[in-house]
Amino acid sequence: MSSHKGWVLVLGSSSGFGAACSRALAKAGYNIFGVHLDRAAGLQRVSELVAELQATGAQVRFWNKNVARDEVRLEVIAGIAETLTGKPVDFGGLALSDENNRDAALTILSKALEDHKGAIKAMLHSVAFGSLQPFVSDNLKEQTSRKQMEMTLDVMANSMVYWVQDLARTRLVDRGSKVFSMTSAGSRRAWGGYGPVSAAKAALEAHTRQLARELGPRGILVNCFEAGVTDTPALRLIPGSDVIKEEALRRNPGERLTTPEDIAATFVALMDPRVRWISGTTVRVDGGEDTL
Ligand SMILES: NC(=O)c1ccc[n+]([C@@H]2O[C@H](COP(=O)([O-])OP(=O)(O)OC[C@H]3O[C@@H](n4cnc5c(N)ncnc54)[C@H](O)[C@@H]3O)[C@@H](O)[C@H]2O)c1
Repeated sequence: MSSHKGWVLVLGSSSGFGAACSRALAKAGYNIFGVHLDRAAGLQRVSELVAELQATGAQVRFWNKNVARDEVRLEVIAGIAETLTGKPVDFGGLALSDENNRDAALTILSKALEDHKGAIKAMLHSVAFGSLQPFVSDNLKEQTSRKQMEMTLDVMANSMVYWVQDLARTRLVDRGSKVFSMTSAGSRRAWGGYGPVSAAKAALEAHTRQLARELGPRGILVNCFEAGVTDTPALRLIPGSDVIKEEALRRNPGERLTTPEDIAATFVALMDPRVRWISGTTVRVDGGEDTL
């Protein structure tokens, strides 16, 4: 049975917050498009997640692709168009990987989607893929390189803007749609090895504000969730994450860590159509962890 509430697009759908939000939104009656990047060893777990989402009655389509690549956005939007219209998009042999073809490709996609304005009720950018090296080391191999810095900012911050640009151009996000990104207290703290991600979080918050300003006249809301420290695979990769967890546990007035389900429940609550005047802000979901 298909849902009547429309579709949510989750970038980073296979783990942590993205997976929990997909579960909660599927249960709340949304269909889920998801993009994730997993190696072969993780794909069984992803298939199980997709089956779990489908068992709620939701329609689900996942792509195992890198969200930071320009042609991936076009391919995924073409896949979304195919799902919504029941017809594959005919690009007439246009090479999607050629930057010079982007405008023409987006025009074809916009035409294919003209009867599906606002079909994406929400997009969540929840992608964890960054360098966790110090800025300064006498060993060049251990120190953040230009490539690592740029990759981290591109994947964890800038890619959110490029997705919103293409979804807005094709009107898949339109009046009433809501866009969310995932930030952390690390946007304004200096944790060991977190420098590139910290910079990406500060940029992501700036991007969120800017998009809220530019998309406000179109009735699209754009906000960040700031999750408290949450035990996910991404957190475990941060050097000294045990200390970060202990410290968060000690400080959190709720006397526990944040869970992905805390964010998911907030996301579902904010999908209420009555919530239409929160934009350009950071919604802290951390049990008060950042007050102390
Ligand atoms: N865990 C925390 O304590 C915490 C706190 C605040 C904010 N965040 C932020 O939340 C977001 C999600 O983190 P998480 O803890 O759920 O991590 P996670 O590792 O559990 O999940 C990350 C997801 O991103 C996907 N992904 C990574 N690189 C990708 C790429 N290039 N293309 C497509 N998909 C890609 C993975 O496949 C996975 O689905 C990140 O932005 C993270 O910085 C985490």
